[in-house]
Order: sequence, then C-alpha cells, then structure tokens
Amino acid sequence: MKYFKIEGPVKLKGEVSAQGAKNAVLPIMSAIILYDTPVLLSNVPQVVDVFTMIELLKILGTKVEWKGKNDLLLDPSTINRYTAPYEIVNQMRASIYVLGPLLMKFGKAAVSFPGGCAFGPRPIDYHLHGLTLLGANLEIDRGYINASMKSPTPAEITLNFKSVGTTIHLMTTASLIEGETTLINCAQEPEVVATADFLIKSGVKIEGAGTNVIKVKGVRKLNNLTEYKIIPDRIEAGTYITAGFMTGGEVMVTGCSPIHLEPVIAKLKEAGASVERGNDYVLVKPRENKIKSLQIETQPFPGFPTDMQPQFMSMLSVAEGLSIIKEGIYPNRFAHAFELQRLGAKIKVIEPTAFIEGVEKLTGAEVAGQDLRGSAALILAGLVAEGITTVFGIEHLERGYENFQEKLQSLGAKIQSSS
Ligand code: EPZ
Repeated sequence: MKYFKIEGPVKLKGEVSAQGAKNAVLPIMSAIILYDTPVLLSNVPQVVDVFTMIELLKILGTKVEWKGKNDLLLDPSTINRYTAPYEIVNQMRASIYVLGPLLMKFGKAAVSFPGGCAFGPRPIDYHLHGLTLLGANLEIDRGYINASMKSPTPAEITLNFKSVGTTIHLMTTASLIEGETTLINCAQEPEVVATADFLIKSGVKIEGAGTNVIKVKGVRKLNNLTEYKIIPDRIEAGTYITAGFMTGGEVMVTGCSPIHLEPVIAKLKEAGASVERGNDYVLVKPRENKIKSLQIETQPFPGFPTDMQPQFMSMLSVAEGLSIIKEGIYPNRFAHAFELQRLGAKIKVIEPTAFIEGVEKLTGAEVAGQDLRGSAALILAGLVAEGITTVFGIEHLERGYENFQEKLQSLGAKIQSSS
C-alpha cells in the first residue's frame, strides 16, 4: 500500500487553489454520451475517479484526450458499445451514471452492478426504480443490469431519499424524453445544479435544480456545446480550510465557491474559526483559542455534508470537550474513528453516532485510510499529532484529491510519500 509519512505538529500557512469538482465532472462526462460531437471540459481534476470514467467512456468507444493539465477533450461521435463492464463499475460506483444515457442513445444497455465500499452496500435501487418509471425495462442477470427502453415516458417521480446520484441520473435521462418529467424530493447539492446547468446549456429546459422539485422538459436532440468549465470542488476546498483551522494556521483557498461551503464554514465558525470569504476564496485565520466542541448531523445539502464528516472528526479529536457526530446519510461511515484511536483519540461509535471526547494531543502512529475522505482525515490528524504519522491507503486519497501532497507541502506540511 502507498503511504504518506507526516511529521507534526505543524501550523499550515499559505494559499492553495481549488481543483474542479470530482462529483460534478463524473455526471457531466456521463451526460456527454448523449452528445455526438466533441466537447472540451475545462477545470477537470486529475484524480483516479476521472481516469476510471475516461477508461469506461473509452470502452464505450469515446475518443478522449487531455489537451492541457486540466482540459479534457471528449469525442462521443464514435461511441458504439453499450456495455459497462464489472471491472470498471466495481472500481467506481458513479459508473452507474452511464446507464440512463446509454439507454437513451441505443435503446438498450448492460451495466454491471457497482460493488459496495468501505461504508456500506451503496445500493442503486432508487436509480433503477426511477428508470423503470421513465419507461425502462430492467432485467438482472449474473450481476449485470440488462436494460431496454422501448417507449421513453415522461413521469412524476418522488424519490425515497434526497439521493444525489439518483437525482442527477434521472434528470440526465429525462433530458431526452419529450414531455415533462417531474422529480420530487430531489437532492439540492451544487453538483446537481452544475449537471443541470450543463444540460440547460445543451438545450434542455430544466427548472428547479437546487430545490427539492426539478421539472425537465426533454428534447429530441441536445445542442452540443463545444466547451464547458467544471465548478470548483467544495469538499476539497473544505478539507484545506479545515486543515488550516485545526493546525492553528492561516490558509486561503482560492478559485472556490464559498456559497457551496456555507454549511462547513458555519460549523468551523461555531468551533471558533475566524473566516473571511470573497466571491471566489475562503481565508481561515490563526485561532487564538482551543477548538470548541460541536454537535453535527450530516444531512443532504444545504445540511452539513457527509463528505466532510471524517475531516471534522479529526479536528474534534483535539477540541475542548465532548463532540457528537450523527451520520444522517451513511450510518456506518466511521472506519476512520478506529484509526484515529490509534493516534490517541477518544472516540466511541454507536452507529449512526460517534462521541468524540477531545484530548490534549494526538501522538503519531501508523494508521490506514479505508476510503477517500477517511484517508484525508487521517492525514489532517497527522498534521496535528506529535511525531511521525504513517498513513497507509493513499490509493483511496488519489481517487478524489489532485496533488494533495504537493498542496499540503506548499502550506508548510512535512509530508513524504512512499512512491
Ligand atoms: C454522492 O454519492 C457522492 N458521490 C458521495 O461522495 C456523497 O457522499 C453522497 O453523494 C452524499 O452526498 C458522487 O457524487 C460521485 P446518494 P451517491 O445517492 O450519489 C442511499 C465522495 O467522497 N441510496 O446521495 O452515491 C445511499 O446508500 C463520495 O466524493 C440508496 O439506498 O449518494 C445513502 O445512504 C462518497 N439507494 C443515501 O441514499 C440508491 O439507489 C444517499 O446516497 C441510492 C442511494
């Protein structure tokens, strides 16, 4: 396993720029299956999940080429296959996003069921139910979803949960279904809004993206854009401002969307942070006092994001007093808690809640990330722990953070990698 060795404690100081949003570029890359001319995506993060989506699109026949560090040219005119194989889908759950577009392009598709991940089975039943309501016929056979779409039908669909993926997947699929499809109890995440913006700019009439009701008036054919810029990654940005605050340093994240970070900024301020924000930057200033304990419940946007829960658990491990984190999205997303205990954190998990009793200090040790945000959280803990912390499982980190080691080093972190 790849590992980082981090020497702490350190006070981070400096400025980093936010990468493009992983969770916006993946659905937009999938929606490009509906295109038939090339499109250049800019601000695309060079992260493993993007590389996996590129591999999947290439298997379908797409021509893909990096035209610059973060500029990706996709030519869907040569797509001629409609099977998304297990070895790709198993690597990345977001591969499921290609099912609806393939159905609309070919009238059929065969997409493998995604695997689970470190924090649960990650079902796709909401996706499949919604596609059925849109007219798809789905058969499950040996781990594959064999789908056909004989008569695409606009529908009114109420989601069981404000599922990000389901909202995006059904909105994208409905974009090519003539008539009005209404999605109720939608997710309101910025990545939903970004995908809607891409589709609107492609000629689809979509109202309500960002609210809990989205209306899609589908079109026969999209007006293919030639280029599109991906929004900044709010979770990456949130990770760096949290690192700045918990280390007692001063960090500015530029090229980000502070409005997307409001739930995170609000909790950092409650913990004692002084935060300044402009229209495209967030600055967290050195703290005079100890980190205050918090009570957090992760919720769909605009609630506190589950993808920032592990990073906040690291921070609260050295806060003053008892903090409580309740997971409203993934009841067992706590693998990082047991690794933090190896650094001396005092955490009790009774799913879906974690109780964190702040300690004076953490002590460096060997720990292993089990998933993307958990790995980031352990690195943040290593920044405040005394001595050397070795974080294994950096493969997880590389799925969603571009140049994590270099960015932290530019902020003064003492971090070496195994490779
Ligand atoms: C997206 O996952 C993100 N991934 C996740 O980020 C994020 O944690 C999650 O939204 C919640 O914000 C991408 O965008 C690629 P959901 P998604 O559907 O769409 C249950 C990261 O770190 N559910 O909103 O898969 C599900 O189990 C990743 O970047 C069903 O039961 O999340 C969960 O409990 C981790 N059946 C809840 O809904 C379904 O068909 C919310 O999941 C779909 C979801």
